[in-house]
Amino acid sequence: MLGPVLLAASRSDRIRRVVSAAPVTRSVVERFVAGERLDESVVVAADLVDRGLAVTLDHLGEDVTGKAEAQRSRDAYLALLDRLSAFGLGARAEVSVKLSAFGQALPGGHDIALRNVLDVVEAADAAGTTVTLDMEDHTTVDSTLAIHADLRGRFPGTGAVLQSYLHRTEDDCHALAASGSRVRLVKGAYREPASAALQDKHDVDLAYVRCLRVLLAGDGYPMVATHDPRLIAVAQALAPRLGRTPDDYEFQMLYGIRDAEQARLAARGHRMRVYVPYGTDWYGYFMRRLAERPANLAFFARSLVTR
Ligand code: FDA
Repeated sequence: MLGPVLLAASRSDRIRRVVSAAPVTRSVVERFVAGERLDESVVVAADLVDRGLAVTLDHLGEDVTGKAEAQRSRDAYLALLDRLSAFGLGARAEVSVKLSAFGQALPGGHDIALRNVLDVVEAADAAGTTVTLDMEDHTTVDSTLAIHADLRGRFPGTGAVLQSYLHRTEDDCHALAASGSRVRLVKGAYREPASAALQDKHDVDLAYVRCLRVLLAGDGYPMVATHDPRLIAVAQALAPRLGRTPDDYEFQMLYGIRDAEQARLAARGHRMRVYVPYGTDWYGYFMRRLAERPANLAFFARSLVTR
């Protein structure tokens, strides 16, 4: 019950103002967010890379309401890529973007987002790395996949995210399981209607396995993004049976979640990439992390009363 309430709150400006202003929130947010400043995120990323992990950095922000804000999001990524290039991390540090931060929801937003993200993809290519397009709520999927297809025509390594909870996703997996494509498979983190998405967690897990099988059997590069131990075990069992070596796919997890498991998978020879978010606009991201696991809310509430 709590998850849907938190997901609804993640889109409320009023609750955003209250939560963001609470002085104790910051220390809890730090568990999931690498820092508010670019410098902090790059230090965290370099440390993870030193420890044998790969990273994908996300400059937090979504649902911008004007073109200038969308351009600021793009500029933040250009600054990030400039810094990553100076560090020489190459493909070990890629970036993830939300097209709603680049103006996708504005009037004419598809083209605005495409123009903004194209600048970022070009900069990533020059820095020797790639961009993956995060997937947001189901109303954005067609536009995001169309932008992905357009970008891939010029930059084939551009990645997409597919969410196993959407009814459409198994078909999208078939369409994207082609040579050279990079697909990050996730369960899905938004509040969706039954007309668009499976509502039962168990059904979402079963759909994840079906999608995983399609991607692993295909010719692309699957990115298995989950913290779920059963799904990680399924991927480890399926991959060799479908002719994959540990170089042909990777695991991904979010910064601050199951760190020991991240290290364990890397130590066992798997590619493990950590999604590292940073920036001041952490509210929506943070609320989705609370919604995924009610125990996180208890942790947050405890910190409110013990300080
Ligand atoms: P599940 O939620 O069942 O969790 C399995 C176990 O993992 C839990 O029992 C717990 O131990 C641990 N865990 C999971 N979430 C936790 C949390 N918040 N705090 C503490 N422990 C937690 N979604 C989306 O809609 N669009 C996107 O673009 C992305 N991008 C993305 C990138 C990457 C790299 C990852 C790993 C995830 C995403 N997601 C996403 C989020 C995804 O859809 C999903 O909501 C979360 O990964 C949680 O689902 P799990 O697969 O981990 O399973």
